[in-house]
Amino acid sequence: MADSKANSITLKVDGPLVCRGEITLVNAAGEVLLKDSEVWLCRCGESKKMPFCDGNHRQAGFRDAGEFEDERAETLDSCIGPLLISVKPNAMLSIKGPVTIQSADGRFHSQRSRGALCRCGHSGKKPFCDASHKRCGFNVD
Ligand code: FES
Repeated sequence: MADSKANSITLKVDGPLVCRGEITLVNAAGEVLLKDSEVWLCRCGESKKMPFCDGNHRQAGFRDAGEFEDERAETLDSCIGPLLISVKPNAMLSIKGPVTIQSADGRFHSQRSRGALCRCGHSGKKPFCDASHKRCGFNVD
């Protein structure tokens, strides 16, 4: 059974990243934007309140079922502890700390201690970044 205090990032179908646990969100300068036990972050690239989801994924027609493979999955003893999420300007969300990444139905999951998650909506390896933000002209702080 999953520990309720454990860090998790859940991929909402056609929607945001639901991050739960001991979350600290920082900007590129390292300034803390938020410390909380839950935050919903945009992964469609269309929010007007970046890095947060504002529901715009619906109007944008964002589609992603949240099914994925993780070539860099790790096996961690625990996913409890600080999870730092850094918002990279015009690019990805960088994560550092133990976390389970999972589809909404839990069928797809992997553990990570670091990684880069897509927030432009164009990666071919969602939820992970594949540098598509450079090709699609993603221009959001
Ligand atoms: S995922 Fe909700 S606005 Fe982008």
